[in-house]
Amino acid sequence: MDKVVSGIRPTGNLHLGNYFGAVKSFVQMQTQYDCMFFIADWHSLTTHPKPEDIRQSARTILAEYLACGLEPERAPIYIQSDVPETLELYLYLNMNMYLGELERVTTFKEKARKQPDNVNAGLLTYPTLMAADILQHRAAYVPVGKDQEQNMEVARKCARRFNHIYGVEFFPEPQNFYFSEKALKVPGLDGSGKMGKSEGNCIYLRDDDKTITKKVMRAVTDSGPTEPNSPKPEVIENLFTFMRIASTDETYRYFDEKWNDCSIRYGDMKKQIAADLCATVAPIRERILEYSSDSARLDRIAAHGAEVARASAAATVQEVRHIIGFK
Ligand code: ADP
Ligand code: TRP
Repeated sequence: MDKVVSGIRPTGNLHLGNYFGAVKSFVQMQTQYDCMFFIADWHSLTTHPKPEDIRQSARTILAEYLACGLEPERAPIYIQSDVPETLELYLYLNMNMYLGELERVTTFKEKARKQPDNVNAGLLTYPTLMAADILQHRAAYVPVGKDQEQNMEVARKCARRFNHIYGVEFFPEPQNFYFSEKALKVPGLDGSGKMGKSEGNCIYLRDDDKTITKKVMRAVTDSGPTEPNSPKPEVIENLFTFMRIASTDETYRYFDEKWNDCSIRYGDMKKQIAADLCATVAPIRERILEYSSDSARLDRIAAHGAEVARASAAATVQEVRHIIGFK
């Protein structure tokens, strides 16, 4: 069966963008592929988080992954820093990557621009660490968002180059995996492009009904359509995107007709979106609280994940050593 691996950096709680853009597809994939999911805590070190935050945040995301429906017996979940084998592969892969090509990665350039006082080497080699995460399991597919395309390109380059240098067919080239045809982008409710932590416009899976409703009711709209069947401006399209992801087709069509005949009332539409989002999030939130209150269970799940991931990574690293020429 084809192997699948993916991870999310534990920088804050999961929001609807993470859920609909990534974790929901992890949940769907776990029944069809040989999956492993992880929490990329090493990757979060590029911004120098405090030790207590590191300790807490991996646990937080673990509880949230589980609450979303990941089943660790089916798809082991591990914490990246529990698998030291990754670092050996990271070192080997770094030997074959060139400064110029890493400097050209857009995410590096963006981060370097945003945090000019902290352009550390970890930031530069972030894509090779990501490649090691993937190649250590010789994964075929990686479900990620559009923003990860260039990092995935580096992962494929690492695989190709290793195979070429040593004249082997050892690493498969991992492919991006998009669950739906169009990679789903969850918009912001503030009229901005996407929902994201750094955008500060998130609805979190931990938010209670009141908070969700308040955030939805504050969503930016316009003064309404004046001509029947007019195209929707971006802020309105965003509202409809929320309906598409959280409401039934029937509800969507109802409001679409109201838009088309100019009788739409945004207040009603927002109330409907809020109710449907609350219905999606409430059971997840309840399970987050349940999992978070049982740290022994979280420890067991992470320990099991680490055991499976280490075995998989160790087997790869052992072969890699052999190929490179180490005993
Ligand atoms: P953030 O942008 O909030 O910091 P991350 O960059 O940590 O989120 O994203 C983790 C995963 O969630 C990635 O696979 C990313 O593509 C996905 N993701 C994040 N925000 C969105 C969004 N608004 N729509 C769709 N997917 C998203
Ligand atoms: N770079 C990814 C992100 O920012 C997180 C990540 C790290 C990852 N290693 C990975 C994703 C390996 C998929 C596979 O979202």
